[in-house]
Amino acid sequence: MKIINEAQLIFDSRSANEGFARVAVSSFFSQLDPTVEEITDLKTAVSEAVTNAIVHGYREYDGKVRVLLRILEPSTAYIRIKDNGCGIDNIEQAMEPLYTTAPEEERAGLGFAVMQSFMDSVQVASRPGRGTTVTMKRIIRSRRRHDTQTR
Ligand SMILES: Nc1ncnc2c1ncn2[C@@H]1O[C@H](COP(=O)(O)OP(=O)(O)O)[C@@H](O)[C@H]1O
Ligand SMILES: [Mg+2]
Repeated sequence: MKIINEAQLIFDSRSANEGFARVAVSSFFSQLDPTVEEITDLKTAVSEAVTNAIVHGYREYDGKVRVLLRILEPSTAYIRIKDNGCGIDNIEQAMEPLYTTAPEEERAGLGFAVMQSFMDSVQVASRPGRGTTVTMKRIIRSRRRHDTQTR
């Protein structure tokens, strides 16, 4: 798929930056003229992935979280979140709803389920001791095109 526009964010693994990632995603993808619901879905998915990088990936040490945002043709939001943290031993198990390695922190184990329900595709690549990359895509229907179609 052709890349129409691209932006990158690199920030420290601090929870204060979850809000920064949400606002950046919202701002960048507003050029696709999404509905309020679409933008909320993208923000929620990115915030789950960024939270995971911070609380799980960088549990033992601090590091950088890298977020790559792309607009692909036709009208698709592409988001890649990457950390160089501890990695995931068993990705399939980690993605099961309710599975969490941090129950003592009252984590629900639903982060991946939320990403999957709000995005059209979610791919996870990880190497123990090296880090994790989550790649997500969502087709944006666009208010403007929808309006002209229904007119
Ligand atoms: N970036 C990451 N680095 C290391 N482990 C991760 C990462 N993302 C997810 N995990 C693992 O996958 C599990 C499930 O994640 P998730 O579905 O978001 O639930 P929760 O965050 O509530 O535990 C986590 O408990 C953790 O063990
Ligand atoms: Mg989570």
